Amino acid sequence: MGSPLIVPSVLPADFARLGEACQQLGAAGVDRIQFDVMDGHFVPNLTFGPDVIAAVRSWVDVPFEAHLMVDEPGPTLARYVEAGCQRVIVHAEACRHLHRVLGQVRDLGAEAAVALNPATPAHAVAHVLDLVDLVLVMTVNPGWGGQAYLASMEPKVAELRRGLDALDHPVDLEVDGGIGPATIAGAAAAGANVFVTGSSLFAEEAGLRAAVEDLRARAASATA
Ligand code: DX5
Repeated sequence: MGSPLIVPSVLPADFARLGEACQQLGAAGVDRIQFDVMDGHFVPNLTFGPDVIAAVRSWVDVPFEAHLMVDEPGPTLARYVEAGCQRVIVHAEACRHLHRVLGQVRDLGAEAAVALNPATPAHAVAHVLDLVDLVLVMTVNPGWGGQAYLASMEPKVAELRRGLDALDHPVDLEVDGGIGPATIAGAAAAGANVFVTGSSLFAEEAGLRAAVEDLRARAASATA
């Protein structure tokens, strides 16, 4: 695993000034920016779609990833790639034909990734690992930011890390939900190497750059 990657979610940002928030995140040295797309059906909340992502694409150079908390996302995949997302994350639970959808993401020229809700076992992705470059383990039940980290997901992270390390191609392991200074070390020690963080990062009074550097250092020291 390389050095830990810090990926902010813009869910807690001021949506009226999203471009500026992305610019500030880029200046703070984040590795990517994640957009939490929620359809009000797969999860109870409703956020934004590809047009909002496209509107802020030119504000910052870092890669974008769309986390699609969307039922049957197949018909809209191309919109997120056209909006400027280098990676598209779909939920295993939201795709009746997950293998086909991940192949569609790759055919669009984007990196494909699959997310698992807390109740979904690791083996749900056993037969699609050849199609993805990232697996996302949700450490909260998706739908809102600011929820408590589920440490009970760490055994699943460790199980996936063992399986991913046995592959002949690199696959990142990302966690999302309740990640902050008090929780990132446990997730890193379990085997995660990419960390999505929202409310904790935006709440850091010392500023975004200090928060990013602190989280990266805590994750690195947990696996040193
Ligand atoms: C849940 C969202 C959140 C968000 C990060 O549906 O996916 O996990 O990205 O939220 P925090 O870091 O505030 O828990």
